[in-house]
Amino acid sequence: PWDEARGAEIIAEHAALEGATLVILHALQEAFGYVPEPAIPMVAQALNLSRAEVHGVFTFYHDFRKQPAGRHVLKLCRAEACQAAGGDALAARAEAKLGVALGNTTADERVTLEPIYCLGLCATAPSAMLDGRVVGRLDEARIDALVAEAQR
Ligand code: FES
Repeated sequence: PWDEARGAEIIAEHAALEGATLVILHALQEAFGYVPEPAIPMVAQALNLSRAEVHGVFTFYHDFRKQPAGRHVLKLCRAEACQAAGGDALAARAEAKLGVALGNTTADERVTLEPIYCLGLCATAPSAMLDGRVVGRLDEARIDALVAEAQR
């Protein structure tokens, strides 16, 4: 859970670094599992930026979460090689099975479905990653199995 004192510490630790906004957002996500909304104005103040600027960085990068992740995180590669290999249909299939759009967590908080932009597995596209384990050569049966595994 969000802890304001811990958040302030993290921000202070990194505030003097080059590219501090990104570094801090990553550090907050690492510590809390997401970037808590109340941290945005704190980051802005520490770096002498507007809230809008910090919020802009937060929303520009797909890596940052607004809410805590579910028990399992299924990331689907949405970059070119995977799209060309049929990734769009597989992503739509996973969204339909889980009942959430990419970037969201199921209501039972079991699964977070997220896009990722290239896993370095383009040769075996389309690819995905479940809780840090990469899986290539996805087809309908494999994506169904991954979704079922994530829901367990
Ligand atoms: Fe999907 Fe590279 S484009 S792994």
